Amino acid sequence: LRSRRKRLLVATLVLVLGFLCIALNASWKYEFLAPGPLSDSHAQLLQRTSDSAPSTSNRCGACHPAGKSSPSEWAASLFGVQTSSSASAATSAYDASQTQLCLTCHAEKLSEFAALPHSLPVKQLATVTEQTQGSHGSVKHGRQIKTNDAGEIACAVCHQEHHGRNHHLSMLTNQQCSNCHQSSFDDFARSHPEFHNWPPQQRSGIVFGHEAHQFKHFPSRRRNFDCVDCHGGDSDSEIVSIRGYAQCAECHDAAISIATTDGLRLLQLPLLDVAAFEPHDIAAFHWPEAGQGSFDGPLEPLMFLLLLADKEAEPICRAWGVDGDFYDVDPDDAQAVQRAAILALAMKRLADDLATAPEQTVQTRLTQVLGADRSFDASSLVSALPPDLVKLARRQWFGEDAITIDEQDPDTSGTSEKAAGWHVDDATLRIWYRPIGHADPVLQACIELATIHTTDSAVSAAQDRLLTSPLVSQCTVCHRASRGTPPTWNSPPSDLQASFTKFSHRPHLVLPQLRDCQTCHQPRETAAIAVSAGQDQHYDATSDFLTIKKQTCVACHTNNAAGESCLQCHNYHIHAAPRFDIR
Ligand code: HEC
Ligand code: HEC
Ligand code: HEC
Ligand code: HEC
Ligand code: HEC
Ligand code: HEC
Ligand code: HEC
Ligand code: HEC
Ligand code: HEC
Ligand code: HEC
Repeated sequence: LRSRRKRLLVATLVLVLGFLCIALNASWKYEFLAPGPLSDSHAQLLQRTSDSAPSTSNRCGACHPAGKSSPSEWAASLFGVQTSSSASAATSAYDASQTQLCLTCHAEKLSEFAALPHSLPVKQLATVTEQTQGSHGSVKHGRQIKTNDAGEIACAVCHQEHHGRNHHLSMLTNQQCSNCHQSSFDDFARSHPEFHNWPPQQRSGIVFGHEAHQFKHFPSRRRNFDCVDCHGGDSDSEIVSIRGYAQCAECHDAAISIATTDGLRLLQLPLLDVAAFEPHDIAAFHWPEAGQGSFDGPLEPLMFLLLLADKEAEPICRAWGVDGDFYDVDPDDAQAVQRAAILALAMKRLADDLATAPEQTVQTRLTQVLGADRSFDASSLVSALPPDLVKLARRQWFGEDAITIDEQDPDTSGTSEKAAGWHVDDATLRIWYRPIGHADPVLQACIELATIHTTDSAVSAAQDRLLTSPLVSQCTVCHRASRGTPPTWNSPPSDLQASFTKFSHRPHLVLPQLRDCQTCHQPRETAAIAVSAGQDQHYDATSDFLTIKKQTCVACHTNNAAGESCLQCHNYHIHAAPRFDIR
């Protein structure tokens, strides 16, 4: 009872003081309530707002719901005296309203789950708990931090204010992590759990065998295998997953250019035995001279896909399959010859369509074949195909002059067969493309087309043929791809920084004892043995390097050397947790 009376006395005193202050200079009427100066990050901010708008109440009101009420009411509430308008949010166990105020400025960067433990959706953190269950039981459930019903933690539990300008707002002690995590984590060397699978498996999607290159391919070319050449990490560059194709070009360009001489065929007219038509009462039609002979000619996969969109050709394409060949047409079999004729006419129609509107033809036909829900942008596949080139071919092969060529005849005489780009070959009756080399946009589009997931067996057979063609398989050596699994063209940047555990090479590479990358990145010996035994290396999702053991870090990361603060290696607010499915 005594203490209560005492409290009331103090409160009245403060109240009086408060009223006094209102009478004084309005710009600091709230100041006396503040337990201390704000940290630098926030102090400046408040300074600025007061410059533009001298509304002083907002200065405190930015973080204190009570700042919206009068200083006296606030002061009273601080001492637990209930006045009419102050519900005293500040003294409740979970200050949801202050957290909301913090989030008016910080929500954008922290995500909508900011106030939940680790700023992760409850379900996702539960997945982490599930996956780590049994390994250590990291979170104890007795001494938990106070939360509201939704499990949210007030920002001020960790981010304290009014401790002076130099107070580091987000510096947490190891003890604060231990409020949830077992306190035995405290001593990194002795009680921190051993790492599991660290760093997490992080293949870039571009195939490269370190062992095969280090012990076989590089020595055979008398080249030095230096990590820094491909990854950076010398004095002025950050370590990256891949520095680009340039590091591979020296040895791999040759193979790519040999493969590309074969070219990619968009249209390939067959040889037709035109003499076989008449005996079977099949109406004759014009067919180029160079295309007359005994039945012969494959169905190129790209052309096959485009023909599948032709109503008349479709059933025949399906019957023949992408491996079908005119060679198999028996001139004595009326039905077979009939089908060959239908298919040949469909090819002529395709040539007509391509001559009028190449891009649109390819787009509509492929959309029809793949299904409208499978988006594919045909523009890069045929963007470089000059319409006049097709028109010219069309005229030369079929003679009819229904199609006018807008400009003068394109000068194909000057462009040699060896040049990259689209070509028409009148002798073999084909329209084909010679890639420019690595990262060719047409081949790229072609591979993307071939990896779209489809259920139609005729379509998927054609896709597989494309993928296994000598040309495309030159690319898929490094850009692994299959139907349903599109290739990776660019290695994604490591998103580890936004996850539970972070790492930076920078402070380490200046240390002489770590100049050798293999201190941390030890090659898997089994792979090296396989290579030296002449076996081919199998690419899988496993890293070429052993996982890193805690022991590697313990030597330096002690309290009085490199440090063992949890926050040096861990994030609290998780922006993305790539190891865990986000559900
Ligand atoms: C950037 C946000 C921010 C601003 C602006 C701010 N405060 Fe605070 N204040 C806090 C936080 C966070 C706490 C809790 C600190 C802790 O627990 O260590 C706090 C605590 C207090 C307390 C202690 C009692 C309580 O409510 O928990 C008082 C009194 C206070 N502030 C007054 C003020 C006054 C007066 C102003 C304006 C001059 C002001 N504050 C401006 C963030 C802020
Ligand atoms: C009016 C806007 C505003 C409000 C309200 C606000 N902040 Fe800030 N806060 C800032 C700005 C601006 C910075 C400086 C940003 C920067 O340095 O990138 C900052 C910085 C911080 C930092 C990072 C300091 C560092 O180490 O870089 C933390 C932590 C933080 N605020 C927590 C809080 C908390 C907790 C609250 C609520 C009690 C709060 N803030 C309320 C604007 C605000
Ligand atoms: C359990 C302790 C804890 C709680 C609760 C917490 N934080 Fe943090 N916060 C940290 C730590 C630790 C950091 C340092 C950077 C990191 O690890 O993410 C930090 C960093 C920040 C930063 C600056 C760094 C960044 O990621 O941009 C802001 C802003 C911030 N917190 C705001 C908030 C707000 C707003 C809330 C309330 C919704 C909140 N924090 C709740 C521990 C906490
Ligand atoms: C509000 C309670 C709480 C606080 C405070 C807290 N954590 Fe956690 N943390 C969890 C929960 C819950 C999990 C999910 C895993 C589990 O249940 O063991 C987790 C998971 C982790 C993980 C990932 C575990 C794994 O297996 O990958 C790390 C690392 C981590 N916390 C570090 C920290 C650090 C460092 C701090 C201090 C900045 C901290 N935590 C503060 C509750 C908390
Ligand atoms: C000729 C270029 C080249 C050289 C030299 C090279 N790398 Fe790599 N490295 C790559 C490529 C390409 C990848 C991406 C392949 C992948 O993600 O599987 C990669 C991936 C990695 C990765 C991440 C993927 C994984 O398997 O864990 C690490 C770690 C790595 N290299 C370390 C090293 C070290 C250490 C050295 C020196 C001993 C080295 N590299 C030398 C090209 C090279
Ligand atoms: C010093 C020459 C050289 C360099 C540089 C080089 N390679 Fe190789 N690579 C070879 C040789 C030789 C072979 C084996 C012959 C072949 O298959 O062409 C090979 C084979 C491969 C294979 C097939 C699988 C295997 O290991 O046998 C892949 C994938 C590969 N290299 C990827 C790359 C990538 C990616 C780069 C650039 C980061 C690269 N290579 C840089 C010489 C090199
Ligand atoms: C010897 C391995 C290798 C082969 C073979 C290869 N690439 Fe690449 N490719 C790479 C590497 C390495 C990169 C760079 C990835 C990065 O920077 O993340 C790359 C990047 C690319 C890119 C991204 C754009 C760019 O230039 O960075 C495209 C597109 C591409 N390749 C297409 C192809 C095509 C098409 C083929 C077949 C003609 C092919 N690649 C063959 C290794 C290869
Ligand atoms: C102190 C130990 C340590 C040393 C020394 C070290 N690394 Fe790493 N390295 C790591 C860890 C941990 C990761 C995983 C972190 C990450 O991916 O951000 C990593 C990741 C990598 C990656 C994959 C990065 C990515 O973005 O995918 C490459 C490549 C790599 N290191 C190359 C090197 C090279 C080259 C050297 C020598 C110049 C080197 N490292 C030295 C510890 C080390
Ligand atoms: C040879 C000594 C040494 C070893 C071994 C070592 N570190 Fe470090 N580490 C350092 C030093 C020195 C710093 C810088 C400390 C500082 O700035 O206060 C550092 C800083 C760090 C940082 C903070 C990086 C940053 O940008 O703030 C992380 C994370 C880290 N180390 C993780 C590791 C991990 C994980 C290992 C084990 C794979 C490891 N270290 C091994 C010496 C070492
Ligand atoms: C020198 C760097 C470093 C320091 C300091 C450090 N950790 Fe870790 N911690 C790691 C690494 C690396 C992992 C392995 C991450 C993984 O497997 O994904 C890890 C894993 C964890 C895990 C998950 C363990 C598991 O079995 O899944 C928790 C929880 C954790 N640390 C908490 C802490 C806490 C709390 C502190 C401070 C008392 C701390 N760590 C200090 C580097 C560090």
